[in-house]
Amino acid sequence: MTVESVRPEDTAATAEPPVAGGAVPLLGHGWRLVRDPLAFLSQLRDHGDVVRLKLGPKTVYAVTTPALTGAVALSPDYIIAGPLWESLESLLGKEGVATANGTLHRRQRRTIQPAFRLDAIPAYGPIMAEEAYALVERWRDADGVLDITYESFRVAVRVAARCLMRGSYMDARADRICADLTTLFAGMYQRMVVPLGPLYKVPLPSNRKFNRALADLHVLVDEIVADRRASGQKPDDLLTALLEAKDENGDPIGEQEIHDQVIAILTPGAETVGSTIMSLLLVLTEHPELGDKIRDEVKSVVGDRPVAFDDVRKLTYTANVVTETLRLYPAVWILTRRAVADTELGGYRIPKGADLIYSPFAVQRDRRSYERNEDFDPDRWLPERSKDVPKYAMSPFSVGNRKCPSDHFSMAELTLITAVVAHAYGFEHASDSDPRPRIGITLRPRRLMLRALPR
Ligand code: HEM
Repeated sequence: MTVESVRPEDTAATAEPPVAGGAVPLLGHGWRLVRDPLAFLSQLRDHGDVVRLKLGPKTVYAVTTPALTGAVALSPDYIIAGPLWESLESLLGKEGVATANGTLHRRQRRTIQPAFRLDAIPAYGPIMAEEAYALVERWRDADGVLDITYESFRVAVRVAARCLMRGSYMDARADRICADLTTLFAGMYQRMVVPLGPLYKVPLPSNRKFNRALADLHVLVDEIVADRRASGQKPDDLLTALLEAKDENGDPIGEQEIHDQVIAILTPGAETVGSTIMSLLLVLTEHPELGDKIRDEVKSVVGDRPVAFDDVRKLTYTANVVTETLRLYPAVWILTRRAVADTELGGYRIPKGADLIYSPFAVQRDRRSYERNEDFDPDRWLPERSKDVPKYAMSPFSVGNRKCPSDHFSMAELTLITAVVAHAYGFEHASDSDPRPRIGITLRPRRLMLRALPR
């Protein structure tokens, strides 16, 4: 059953949600969200379906059940805003698809959607396969320990840029994008949970590093746009769609909007996929038997020829490993919204202007939704078992009008890369590997240093 958000005049609900325990003066619950956010968010459901948190001076409403997170994502009463998006605005701008609302957002989704449609994805197949095999070849020559953060983000940026922006120029820029995003996504998380505004302008080394990375990313995007224009070419890709887009009056969209749009697509595309590839490689390292099974599946489905895009839909075990990785290690582990009307959620009053927060990580690991909830079990996604998963208990790409446009693109890319990589290698940790979660705007292993062992 879908739980809809309803206006208070339709109900008698006036109760305030309970306040979660553990707040301290000044920082409120912010310190818990800095120190151990995954554990903190994962236990909130024990206190209620909706609970209040204090982040610095702000009150934030945390939504904890699958049904209510689905209701928030699907309801027009909650828009993209709140602490996550405010902290992201310095990066994503206000005019890109990830941060815009209302008519601007609907128009922008119409512009970008064709590039991500199911029937557009096969055209990207050869690039995805080429990049997956290039990775395997790189590692054959690497001779030693692989820095998996670098490798994962590099391939994620290359696939997104080559498929969607037909860039052949991406290597030096891919390195810059990766370095900039690493700094930015770590710094932005802190700005979100401890919103101390002007203090982040103080010229401390960490703030300077953050601002340098931000400026560089904006320069990079201007370079990409300028290069395309200078080339005089208009290939059938997302960048052309953005450059040719028209506004509601049929006029070309402004330079700022083009800039914000490129950032709003390249940034989530690189960061989420890069983080997920890291988590997948961690999983293959810690559960070598999964790699063996993937290799068996590739052998039986594909035989001795290279894996091609058309094979992906038949690689069901491999896809289930990807899905289970997205369940336990969702790159987008925290989301926020803002109420634009007085509403009611789970019997509690949510006032207009309230910020809401919820965590796909907490929802997807909840023992109430999953048996042996912490176990890595790809077979839970077999059709006969997955039907028991409660609605909205597995939404790593979200639902509703802000759902990730790239869900099919990403699943195809991740399944293909996983099949090719696991077929070629097993993995072991090098001594300086640190697989503990790194909390930023996205979730990923902290520092993954692996040895690739040819099979
Ligand atoms: C939005 C997850 C890959 C572009 C989202 C949202 C989630 C998500 C959860 C919704 C945010 C919200 O509800 O507030 C993921 C995951 C990915 C992935 C887990 C891969 C593992 C990508 C890629 C691209 C991309 C590869 C682009 C190349 C976007 C954009 C939005 C978005 C533009 C904003 C959509 C809107 O607001 O209308 N993503 N994403 N994502 N994602 Fe992804």
